[in-house]
Amino acid sequence: MDIASRPAEPAQNPQIADAAPAPQAPPVIRREDYLPPAWLVPEIALDFALGLDATTVVSRLSVRRNPAGNGAQTLRLNGDQISPVAVHVDGEAINDWRMDGPDLLIELSGEAHEVRVETALVPSGNSQLMGLYASNGMLCTQCEAEGFRRITFFPDRPDVLSTYSVRMAGAKATFPILLANGNCTAQGEGENGTHWAEWHDPWPKPSYLFALVAGELIANHATFTTMGGRTVDLNVWVRPGDEGRTQHALDSLIASMKWDEETFGREYDLDLFNIVAVSDFNMGAMENKGLNVFNTRYVLADPETATDADYDAIEGVIGHEYFHNWSGNRITCRDWFQLSLKEGFTVLRDQLFSAAMGSEPVKRIEDVRVLRIAQFPEDSGPLAHPIRPDSYQEISNFYTATVYNKGAEVIRMMRTMAGEERFRQGTDLYFERHDGEAATCEDFVKAIEDGAGLDLTQFRLWYSQAGTPQVSASLKVENGTAVLSLRQSVPATPGQPEKQPMPIPLRVALFDRASGTHGGESLIVLDKAEDSFTFDGAGHDPILSINRGFSAPVSIEMARPDADLVFLAAHDDDPFARYEAMQSLVVQHLVAAVGSGLNEAQREAGREAIGEAFGAIVTDPELDDLMRGELLLLPAESYLAEQLLVSDPGAIHAEREGLKAWLGRKLGGELRALHDRVSAVPYSREAAARGARKVKTQALVYIAAGDPAEGARRGYAQYQAASCMTDRQGALMVLASLDCPERELALADFLARYEGNALVIDKWFSLQAGSLHPRVLDHIKALASHPEFRMSNPNRVRSLYMAAAMNPVAFHDPDGEGYRMIGDLIRRLDPINPQTAARFVASLGRWRRVEPQRAALMRAELERIAAQADLSRDVREQVTKSLG
Ligand code: PHE
Ligand code: ZN
Repeated sequence: MDIASRPAEPAQNPQIADAAPAPQAPPVIRREDYLPPAWLVPEIALDFALGLDATTVVSRLSVRRNPAGNGAQTLRLNGDQISPVAVHVDGEAINDWRMDGPDLLIELSGEAHEVRVETALVPSGNSQLMGLYASNGMLCTQCEAEGFRRITFFPDRPDVLSTYSVRMAGAKATFPILLANGNCTAQGEGENGTHWAEWHDPWPKPSYLFALVAGELIANHATFTTMGGRTVDLNVWVRPGDEGRTQHALDSLIASMKWDEETFGREYDLDLFNIVAVSDFNMGAMENKGLNVFNTRYVLADPETATDADYDAIEGVIGHEYFHNWSGNRITCRDWFQLSLKEGFTVLRDQLFSAAMGSEPVKRIEDVRVLRIAQFPEDSGPLAHPIRPDSYQEISNFYTATVYNKGAEVIRMMRTMAGEERFRQGTDLYFERHDGEAATCEDFVKAIEDGAGLDLTQFRLWYSQAGTPQVSASLKVENGTAVLSLRQSVPATPGQPEKQPMPIPLRVALFDRASGTHGGESLIVLDKAEDSFTFDGAGHDPILSINRGFSAPVSIEMARPDADLVFLAAHDDDPFARYEAMQSLVVQHLVAAVGSGLNEAQREAGREAIGEAFGAIVTDPELDDLMRGELLLLPAESYLAEQLLVSDPGAIHAEREGLKAWLGRKLGGELRALHDRVSAVPYSREAAARGARKVKTQALVYIAAGDPAEGARRGYAQYQAASCMTDRQGALMVLASLDCPERELALADFLARYEGNALVIDKWFSLQAGSLHPRVLDHIKALASHPEFRMSNPNRVRSLYMAAAMNPVAFHDPDGEGYRMIGDLIRRLDPINPQTAARFVASLGRWRRVEPQRAALMRAELERIAAQADLSRDVREQVTKSLG
């Protein structure tokens, strides 16, 4: 069928023109209202006539009444900003179709029919980057969660699984490579310089996993032989010129495939696995069946342009998307409330994978840091929701740190309680029981319960209750018996004023001061509001190490002498607990300093204790540098703010910077010696060399805080000597915060050196927007009108404005200029890309936890956004909830 020549006619149905404007309050979708679909679509055939400015789609659905449905005659096909060019049922053109808002309704009398719908799209005009869009001269799709309905009319919900056949045709010069899910079954030449390809995916899938890519691409190719002996072709597709930066992604894919076989017994199920990198993408990457689409930033790397952190992120995201093939694709979600079923589990899987590829303790510390910075504030703010939400207005707003990262922590607790082996029996049972289904979180919990032999009755509260549990602990010792008293409370969150106690698994150990050892770790589960636990043979004055390995995503409240924390920071054999002791020592001091206020003597005493522990870490020859790097990080300002009911961001910043400078001066000699030692380590990707680079920049940070002139000197030297992006970016980051001539020299050099490399130019923007320079707001404003800034590219927008929103100096400017800047951004970006715009609202939504003057300015900014007519559903929901 030749659909390329047919003109895209406007819709004939008058109801489209009459459609009412979107109402102010978008409807609320509720989990409890779930109903099975009335119609199923066992098969779909799609035919695309591709063009960047005009693409036509002919979709043929074989629909069948669902025996488990409500028996409705009406077939509802979801649409979004599309209109039907033509509708056929069983081969006949029909005119009695109707529109209900964006959806197409067709009355069907029989049990099974063939429905054919034609749509016309303008990919180059699609700035939302959902559905079919043009990026950098190529065409690609993004369908999760509800993007497929922007391509064609369809029951666009994850519990409708179909077998897809795709045909696409287009100009060979523009689209030399034509890709879709599954296997390529046929291809050939057409007329007038066109060619075509047919793809078939044998695995039934929901529409959100559909993908198509067409453009000029070049692959880095390898093969992988699965444990069952299947040879799989692997390709990482990029724009010509980028192929030299794909090896790490390809290596990571191979490592993921092998690891999932060994660790979870999961084998790949197609002969082909394609990854495509695109430069305009709302998220990190997407797990479309057999055709993962990635943000370029999670694919492209070489030592010259990517940092060690970039390499790690690529490995993690490649793993994540690959692991979705089982936890997401083979077993998908029944509805979007179950999102954590695939995301929480897959994040846990990618965390375990990265830990196995690198350092397990360092990875654990990083994961907890992310949770505390991104998820804890969410859980205590106006947008708090359980990992399995009860309602939403726009599902895109629920791709959150709670669903992803807390979701992973919840499953990790099950693993901790079951032990690795029994947990594996649970996941085996889950994969076996639900393969090919659209499942629920409850299905997952039940499978782990049955397979691992756990009673998770009360544990299910972790799926329904939002809020980070607070656990207060106290230890009393009598005659060698220690009694640990624990009390938990789960804070009220929106819609959930009252909470029940949850089971909280805590790994604990009691240290003997004299020997520096403990008599064994135990796992206790606090499942009541209050309980106590007894330990024999504890000596007379043991030191408690609690929530080791961060066994539960809670916050522990316990007043402890600095000396105990210094002891644990030096002696705990659980590396996470060591890190935690160091963090607690600093948190305790800074919170006291900005809260009640400390007199000079008290401040000095607090700093001395921290300085002693820091000094030991800087110089300890036993520590590997990767771990040293973790231990030297000061707690984030957002995490410090979390510790206070209402915080003064200015005071937190000043106190934390004061401590940093004090440490830089106090330990100046040691830090310079450390910086010298690690600067002599040559580049390699080995752990020791990566550790050296990590502490190199950290040492520089403290040196610059204590002695800005020395920082500028060493920073510029590090910049000029840099043989890799890790060192160069680290040096530039430090220089960007200093008011010195080296700053301008290095910034200008960096821009010129990496001209044309979008991912590196992103770094140039974000380093400046994240700087602590006194004129940072002016810098950000100037950058917004820099010729390299583009509002249409999410990576560029985030590199400037996410860095700004997370920069305490810029964002919390006392005059409210930072708030206004983010508010303006949201209002300007919303009509272009609502999904990305909505992600900025949360920063303003923190107003209730900020001191009154700034709070009023933040609130006013939210009100200015709310007053704007025609806000997207995405931004409307977040703003309304943040004001509410
Ligand atoms: N499902 C993707 C992931 O977590 C994330 C994503 C969501 C990407 C929505 C695009 C759009 O791997
Ligand atoms: Zn995912």
